[in-house]
Amino acid sequence: MGTAQRLSDIAVRKLRTGKHWLSFIIQQLEKTGAAHGQGFLNAEQEAETLLAHALGLPWEALQKALKQPMPETAAAKLRHLAERRLFDKEPTAYLTGEAWLGGLHFRVDRRVIIPRSYFVEIIPEQIPLWLPDSTKVLRVADACTGSGCLAVLLAKQFPAATVDATDLSADALEVAQLNVADHGLSERIHLHHTDTLKGLKGPYDLIVCNPPYEPTALLKGLPAEFHKEPSMALVSGKDGLDVIRKLLAQASKLLAPHGILVVEIGGLHDAILKTWPHLEVTWLPTADGSDCVFLVSGAALKRGLTKRAVPAKPRVRLGLPLTKAGKGRVR
Ligand SMILES: C[S@@+](CC[C@H](N)C(=O)[O-])C[C@H]1O[C@@H](n2cnc3c(N)ncnc32)[C@H](O)[C@@H]1O
Repeated sequence: MGTAQRLSDIAVRKLRTGKHWLSFIIQQLEKTGAAHGQGFLNAEQEAETLLAHALGLPWEALQKALKQPMPETAAAKLRHLAERRLFDKEPTAYLTGEAWLGGLHFRVDRRVIIPRSYFVEIIPEQIPLWLPDSTKVLRVADACTGSGCLAVLLAKQFPAATVDATDLSADALEVAQLNVADHGLSERIHLHHTDTLKGLKGPYDLIVCNPPYEPTALLKGLPAEFHKEPSMALVSGKDGLDVIRKLLAQASKLLAPHGILVVEIGGLHDAILKTWPHLEVTWLPTADGSDCVFLVSGAALKRGLTKRAVPAKPRVRLGLPLTKAGKGRVR
């Protein structure tokens, strides 16, 4: 592990306070072209997180510590973390072993992708508009659960529901198990080692999925940080659609007619419309305006998959206009 490249002793010796360290790490992250986007927006957020972790402080307590001299052991720990981040390109969340989504804490390590899904907006803001009586949402599935983060958000959003969460990676499910237990939800979230939704028994009121959706060829071009994540969490065949194809076919048999399927699809907006021209999908709004999450009802899913695919204009429910193709975000 690691490379020979390390921070200079001369530069490090000059760093006295937490603030010195913070500015230095931000500068180094920028200088070395660190890629963000794995749960953080910029160098500042990552540097603050590393500093708080080295000091053993919650992030909110950091301001006070900035003016204090750095204790020697914390400085040594921070130097090691910074070197791993800067030169080995280890993502910050793997270095600290934790990530936050929707204000909730999750354990993460290299067995799972770092949580950063659009479902953090979609679960509290959009899904309740389609399933307004949360007491009637009793059966939920989260396909491709990874760390279990969305299963936990769903269980909290729908307190009467049981959630079946699946993943093809046994490693990921071990992490999910820990997170489900941390949140006291082992009674209501059931983890399944399976391909997409295979073997599950319907009917479900709600099926959610944040699948791998990048075309395989795209992996090569991703920054080094993203290569530390499991590739099966990112890519899904030549066109990115392999898991989504299975998901639609399986979900059509498992969703109740009133139920809904909600899927995050990154930059595949046009590909979805082209591949399933008869599917009556609704693109759900997200804060950044990208059309990267669609919703389809159980009844519409059945209809859309059984019709013969002929070149036709895609229809969109509720008369929502088609906007520009969702660019998605590199994840
Ligand atoms: C993009 S990650 C999403 C993880 C989590 N739901 C989140 O939002 O952070 C996709 C997950 O799908 C899993 N996966 C890949 N192919 C799968 C398949 N055929 N069936 C089930 N899970 C699969 C990966 O192991 C990974 O954990």
